[in-house]
Amino acid sequence: MKNKVSVLVGLQWGDEGKGKIVDMLSKDFDVVARYQGGANAGHTIIIDGKKTVLHLIPSGIFTKNIICVIGNGTVIDPKALIEEIDLLTKDGVDLSGRLYISKDAHIILPYHKIIDAINESKNDKIGTTKKGIGPTYFDKYARRGIKFSDFEDENVLKDKIKKNLAYLISIFPESEELKALSDTGLFNELKEQYEDIKQYFVQTHYLLNNMISEGKNILLEGAQGALLDVDFGTYPYITSSSPTSGGACTGTGIPPTVINGVIGIVKAYTTRVGEGPFPTELFDDTGKEIARIGVEFGATTGRPRRCGWLDLVALKYAVIINGVTEIALTKSDVLDTFKEIKLCTDYELGGDVINTFPSNPFVLQNVKPVYKTFKGWNKSFNESSKYEDLHVEFKEYVEFIENYVGVKIRYISTGPARKDIIIK
Ligand code: GDP
Ligand code: IMO
Ligand code: MG
Repeated sequence: MKNKVSVLVGLQWGDEGKGKIVDMLSKDFDVVARYQGGANAGHTIIIDGKKTVLHLIPSGIFTKNIICVIGNGTVIDPKALIEEIDLLTKDGVDLSGRLYISKDAHIILPYHKIIDAINESKNDKIGTTKKGIGPTYFDKYARRGIKFSDFEDENVLKDKIKKNLAYLISIFPESEELKALSDTGLFNELKEQYEDIKQYFVQTHYLLNNMISEGKNILLEGAQGALLDVDFGTYPYITSSSPTSGGACTGTGIPPTVINGVIGIVKAYTTRVGEGPFPTELFDDTGKEIARIGVEFGATTGRPRRCGWLDLVALKYAVIINGVTEIALTKSDVLDTFKEIKLCTDYELGGDVINTFPSNPFVLQNVKPVYKTFKGWNKSFNESSKYEDLHVEFKEYVEFIENYVGVKIRYISTGPARKDIIIK
């Protein structure tokens, strides 16, 4: 049998439960690699009652013998990385020979976080995580970004930091925080951090492709979600990277020809953190109840997540652009006590009924969801671990989703722990 090279993507606005599913699937893989984003991600894993939130290190790290890779498409704040490594090491997770980071990943410097905060205060608010993600990708595409491989010539690195800082002060002259930075101070701090972590940096594109040649199974872990994608998300209310499956190729150097599966993760309802259109958002008690039972608070920022029903128009769009081959449905247990459960099947827009996802966020803002109402299953999942034994109302809900999007739901997550899973 051919080795498995799969991409795992969030199909909504993030926080679908990717961390849990990656952790659960890891036993079938040799390598788990992140391909985009940075410490804006918060992937929660609960093993034997102990909860860990990972921001940069792939969610396969708790599986014995697995290799974890942070690919070139990510942006890395060395301080956040060191904190995460320290936390895992303190918890007894052995990282030696198990963590590899791309030299080509771009570095988040302190000025990127300052600019993230300035942008949020001056322009239309996006509701970013303020981790410096957007400004770092901005520098990358403006061809002045700094990569870890810049340490191979420290004089060039020093010069880049000096020029970048001077440039930023010239465009944000009123920022006292930027003026308080010095290029030598920035270099020295970065150098000190790099000394702590330099053993992890390699050209991960060679490492990954060699492993594929050796027949190893690779899981590519997306952060965020399709509707936050820089091309396909609700632009400009997006993150600044490509969480969709295409991003897994450019973000790792793994060619599209070897990828043979795309696992899409979807919550049984919808959540969103930050600003931007959200057609099925609920502002009533039902929305509050979903948030309460689902404990919907951001794993990175602690912000309350906006909640609403599952939007099949958006889901089908996400399935198409990612080429999803199988779905993991998470947090279905959160809906256990609801009398009625709704699925959005169409949008009403200016008297028309449409079933495509509009590109313009201001158009999307004005659509009215058309719902199909299902009778709630009103039972917990505790007793059943086989799909066949599940409540008929729940199976109707699952099968309606499958038929609508044209892809099978293979995994049903019924709780936050590793063991809470039904394989269909
Ligand atoms: P990620 O960013 O996609 O990895 O998701 P987060 O970790 O940010 O948010 C998902 C939250 O839901 C976490 O608190 C998980 O522990 C929790 N979770 C994951 N799957 C399930 C599930 O099936 N049921 C319940 N009740 N909680 C879940
Ligand atoms: P995981 O991987 C949910 C959102 C932010 C904001 C927008 C831009 O845990 O699913 P950024 O800091 O990236 O420039 O913010 O994107 N956002 C997320 N929302 N889950 C995430 O990651 C997110 N990462 C960024 O709230 O709306
Ligand atoms: Mg998250």
